[in-house]
Amino acid sequence: MQTAPVIPVIVIDELKHAEPLARALVAGGLPVLEVTLRTPAALEAIRAMRKVEGAVVGAGTVTNQSELAAAVDAGSQFIVSPGLTEPLGKAAIRADIPFLPGIANAGDIMRGLDLGLTHFKFFPAMAAGGLPALKALAAPFGQCRFCPTGGISLANAPEWLGFDPVLCVGGSWVAPRGAIDGAEVERLAREAAALAA
Ligand code: 3PG
Repeated sequence: MQTAPVIPVIVIDELKHAEPLARALVAGGLPVLEVTLRTPAALEAIRAMRKVEGAVVGAGTVTNQSELAAAVDAGSQFIVSPGLTEPLGKAAIRADIPFLPGIANAGDIMRGLDLGLTHFKFFPAMAAGGLPALKALAAPFGQCRFCPTGGISLANAPEWLGFDPVLCVGGSWVAPRGAIDGAEVERLAREAAALAA
């Protein structure tokens, strides 16, 4: 979460897009890549992206233990989930892999804390109330750190990143779906990576 200010949330429809997309994002300064398990190509895309030098590749949209196992088998270096269930949280801890589960209320955070987790994705960030909601939610949980995702853009990211407990944001705007225009993706990544400053 502290490697880059933005984690691209990636949907791969065609395996051939995976490697050029990863190359362009890494070249632009966004090495941490979340490949969502929303398409049949996702697991092979993770395998392909792992071959790109400098890329740190994780699986997103992991919602249960069998998806976790498949993601780990594909070489995922971290796991992101839209929510938090106890079976999934325990399985991720057993697998000894960095795990970023989604939370949207105090009960979710408390369930995470019970499992020993302190770093969470705030999802869906804008629909769940935006920065005011996260500020209110974070107040009682000073030990927790967050990656808001869902409705984040280049325009609103600085405001989120300006809130101390936010270590990074997630977003799909840096990784447009479909055919890869490497130069354009690299430009988007560079712009997003500069948010760190
Ligand atoms: C996610 O999968 O985490 C979000 O759907 C990404 O949200 P965005 O498309 O609004 O960036």
